[in-house]
Amino acid sequence: MSDDALFPGLDDWDPNPLRKCLRKGGFHRSALEALGMPERWLRSDIARAALLGRVPPGSPLEVLLRLFTLGDAIDGACALRVLGDASHGLLALGFLAVGGGTVRSIYQLTPMGDGWIACDFRERQRRDAADYVMGLGPSSILLASLTPLHKRGRALELASGIGWLSGQLAQGGMAVVATDLNARALSLGRFTARLAGTVGIEFRHGDGFACVSGERFDLIVANPPYVQSPGGAMLYKEAPVGDPICARLLRDLPEHLAPGGIAVVLLNWSHQTDDDWSDGPLAWIPATGTRRWLFRSDCSAPADYAWKWIAGDLRFAAEAAAVAEMHRWLAHYQSCGVTRVSGGFVIVQQCAPGDEWTRRESRAAEHITAAAGGEVLRVLQNQTWLATAPDLLETRFDVPEGVRAEASLVLGDNGWAQETIRLTSPARLSYDGQIDANILRLLAVTREGKAPSALVAEISSSPGFSAVPDLPQRITALVHELVHHGMLVPAT
Ligand SMILES: C[S@@+](CC[C@H](N)C(=O)[O-])C[C@H]1O[C@@H](n2cnc3c(N)ncnc32)[C@H](O)[C@@H]1O
Repeated sequence: MSDDALFPGLDDWDPNPLRKCLRKGGFHRSALEALGMPERWLRSDIARAALLGRVPPGSPLEVLLRLFTLGDAIDGACALRVLGDASHGLLALGFLAVGGGTVRSIYQLTPMGDGWIACDFRERQRRDAADYVMGLGPSSILLASLTPLHKRGRALELASGIGWLSGQLAQGGMAVVATDLNARALSLGRFTARLAGTVGIEFRHGDGFACVSGERFDLIVANPPYVQSPGGAMLYKEAPVGDPICARLLRDLPEHLAPGGIAVVLLNWSHQTDDDWSDGPLAWIPATGTRRWLFRSDCSAPADYAWKWIAGDLRFAAEAAAVAEMHRWLAHYQSCGVTRVSGGFVIVQQCAPGDEWTRRESRAAEHITAAAGGEVLRVLQNQTWLATAPDLLETRFDVPEGVRAEASLVLGDNGWAQETIRLTSPARLSYDGQIDANILRLLAVTREGKAPSALVAEISSSPGFSAVPDLPQRITALVHELVHHGMLVPAT
């Protein structure tokens, strides 16, 4: 018997019958997508009819959707027929419960990627259960997008919840420690990993870094309960009153990073004016021995921010409860002098003293694509390379696949004229900004396999060129800028 809080028999449980049953019944991603049910639907609050209306009545898939997505109690004989051999193991684990001739699932099971994740049904939040376990939300997906998945070594997922990202890191070959303050989340994480057949994750129970004291990691990722609320007990999103959780996690972070180790942490923070948006988070991260790359992805007025969180919380579904909660949040902001609340993320890399840098950028989270972790690595590796003071004009570079430029044209008296050119990196994380035509040409020249000095020669020999004495320095500065943003990578 394992000492798992929810599933003491988990080590002896055979997940194969359940996998087979879910696949055979079409309760997996590709089959559901073929029926017009994208993965994100099953993770959201989609209307019951939108799901049930797409599947044949009485089919095994209808039973599985009602049991595992919607949390219905199903006629016992019908449920047992569909679950077949899987039913015995799930009943023994306590994943399913029987009563009054029906069977119901205590936990939600959701197809995700090639497998499934286990979490609480949303209805449990309505009961104000502090240990309510969320499934995957937009923040979980954003963190996974930003995470370099192909690193080697040891990884820590702090505040791991059900440890879905830990599973991806373990499958990529990292030795993973997943820690969380909610023992129920860790149990559902162990179940999820076992169902996926993922090995290499060690789940540990504890507050912040307490259960990894003295340990260092090559990668640390965290989606902590960052909501800027007046304090609350709902573990997955609220820190207790007076616990500045993001600040204390970021303060302790560097001492858990191995040399060159990288951390990606999502966070929200309150501030007073629009000019001071980066002061708070940067003050939390020790500047010595770190590279700090802070992104802000949104900024809200306090009332809008409060409503965003209260509106989706089933504890405040009744109007009077929501109004009272809004008043509580706004009184808190007023007493602290908060006039803006920002959301974003920070990337921190451990570095040698003297190699530190700090960057602040704004990027809308919804534009960042799943490959952003590759851009994080590219920029950090480029930064290390730039520190060797290479000859930028004579280096040959690769341009990452998927770099895009969009021109905006304006119609004037002489026809269409180009107004701006906007360049974006493939995952839209490391670069998104306006450029001039020289940068476009520089990228094209380097893609042709030539060193940037070829552009200096090209411009110098163009008809009508009037000598610009510092042309090589200007092109060098452009190359530096592009390398700095991961838009050029030294050719290997
Ligand atoms: C927003 S959820 C993120 C879950 C998961 N990592 C994801 O991205 O889907 C935050 C998690 O932090 C955990 N948590 C809350 N307070 C914590 C603390 N003091 N130390 C460690 N984990 C904590 C919660 O139990 C919850 O699982």
